[in-house]
Amino acid sequence: MSLRERWGSRSAFVMAAIGSAVGLGNVWRYPYVVYKSGGGAFLIPFLVALLTAGIPLMILEYWLGQRAQAGAPQSLKKTHKNFEWVGWWALMAALILTFYYAVVMSWCFNYLYYAWSLPEWSPNAKDFFFAKVLQVSSGPFDFGEFPYVAWPVVMGLAISWISVYLIICKGVARVGKVVLITVPLPVILLLILVIRGMTLDGSGEGLKFFLEPNFAALKDPTIWLSAYGQVFFSLSLGFGTLIAYASYTPKNSDITNNAFIVSLADCGISYMAGFAIFSTLGYLAFSQGLPVQDVVSKGPGLAFIVYPTALSLMPLGAILAVLFFIMLLTLGIDSLFSMVEGVIAGVHDKWGFSKGKLVGLYCIFAFMMGLLFASKAGLYWLDIIDHFVTEYTLLLVGLFQCVAVGWFSNISQARQEINKQSDFSLGIWWELCIKYIAPVILVAILGSSLYQELQKPYEGYPSQALAIGVAMTASAFLAGWLFASLKGRHHE
Ligand code: PFF
Repeated sequence: MSLRERWGSRSAFVMAAIGSAVGLGNVWRYPYVVYKSGGGAFLIPFLVALLTAGIPLMILEYWLGQRAQAGAPQSLKKTHKNFEWVGWWALMAALILTFYYAVVMSWCFNYLYYAWSLPEWSPNAKDFFFAKVLQVSSGPFDFGEFPYVAWPVVMGLAISWISVYLIICKGVARVGKVVLITVPLPVILLLILVIRGMTLDGSGEGLKFFLEPNFAALKDPTIWLSAYGQVFFSLSLGFGTLIAYASYTPKNSDITNNAFIVSLADCGISYMAGFAIFSTLGYLAFSQGLPVQDVVSKGPGLAFIVYPTALSLMPLGAILAVLFFIMLLTLGIDSLFSMVEGVIAGVHDKWGFSKGKLVGLYCIFAFMMGLLFASKAGLYWLDIIDHFVTEYTLLLVGLFQCVAVGWFSNISQARQEINKQSDFSLGIWWELCIKYIAPVILVAILGSSLYQELQKPYEGYPSQALAIGVAMTASAFLAGWLFASLKGRHHE
């Protein structure tokens, strides 16, 4: 049997895991989730989610991958023979996520290109984003005129996939080197943007929005769902990615300390991003004489419309915009290739195909599937599918992982093994979280949000569009079963 690939060092693994965790989600998702979900009060569900599910599951995923020295499906199979499908399901979710994650990266490539001419387009930043770059149509079933896609987005998409190919086609040793740049660089850039933001007039007003709690919002179960969804998404849990990354570490390497380092780094960076975004929003509101509520927009509009508009009002705004989009790109690229790596590891472990070829095929296939999201109706599909994948599938995969280890294998023994090799020991709380707390909370949240979903269609989209979103999510599940039932070459 061939030897498993290895990271160059422990720090290469930690850096790559941080690179996976810290991504567009920290800047593009976290601030708007906070904004939607009770401002400062959101920290409570977020920390609860982090402690009861995020960190315990990250430890679990590291352990699964390291023990089995294999990607998600084989690692879960080693826990119990009937759970291989959960691993494939996770990988299918990752596959779908990469289709549109790369499209968001493509928007960033476009914005990097246009950032230099920020003063020209910023007075119409909204039109620029929707009409010029994305060329958005009137609804999910309106693909506009031939060729149905927005060319700037397609070109950016091609650049995203070519970059991913070049980085991971030669294995994790090269990844370990790339993350030496793509992890620290965006943090330095973010720091510059935080300092710039905090020294602007009106920044305090904006920050109030980020920091001042609205406790009444916590009564809404969807906010708790968003917190768990955000923690899972942000820590890259439930996608099989971390399992694959951990499988490239030697069997006796540290788990617990690494998991704490990675998750705390990720949260710290999300929090920093909140400061950068909200202080700048405060400045924008101040400059335009509006209340902060009126300048905050939901969704990607925050990073692609509002933030650039605010930058355009500052001296050297175009340069800051360039830094901002370089930051988004370097944040995103290591997250994107980590997902790809997770899927490739799963396929390679089961069937033994050459990794280089698999990466090439993956990039071409994902580029083609990404065309849906690069189409003129792409933004709607991105929103719908992101909702189902990140707010349901991830949590379900997490739930099944907890059940597999907590109920179908010896979790106390798992804790002993983890403790033997880690810098510090896990208490019994970890077992309790995996076995009882996380599953109960996950079931409660999934149940209540399903109820809400049935009461009120997501964002008022037509039911046929939502049905397609559900079908795509369900097909990930079915594909999971199918892959698990196929015969493989290794480990069978
Ligand atoms: N954690 C990444 C982010 O916050 O943007 C997204 C992500 C990367 C999710 C890798 C899942 C994954 F496997």
